[in-house]
Amino acid sequence: MIKNRDAFLTCNIGMNGCIGRALAIIEMRDLMTHWIQNFKSVRFADGEDGTRITTETKDHFTVGVTPLHLVFEKK
Ligand code: HEM
Repeated sequence: MIKNRDAFLTCNIGMNGCIGRALAIIEMRDLMTHWIQNFKSVRFADGEDGTRITTETKDHFTVGVTPLHLVFEKK
């Protein structure tokens, strides 16, 4: 079931800890609050099934995330 245990400690992978962890958590919380307050639903756009973001995202110095096309329906 669990494919990669490091996924639960994303800021602790590697030799050093992440200095930007607190900022990253604030930003993610802020983004989720914005979504919940302003949109009533979210779905995949036409032609998107959500698999490319896991199969085509490239891991190099920083992560090169493949676009994920979503449609947000405003409240
Ligand atoms: C979800 C978001 C983030 C994740 C998952 C993450 C993850 C990580 C990880 C795993 C490391 C350690 C790498 C290693 O030791 O090889 C690291 C280091 C670092 N991160 Fe992040 N990070 C995130 C966001 C941020 C943000 C927002 C900033 C800055 C504003 C930041 C700045 C840094 C810096 C400067 C280091 C190097 C620290 C050092 O070498 O002492 N990170 N990050």
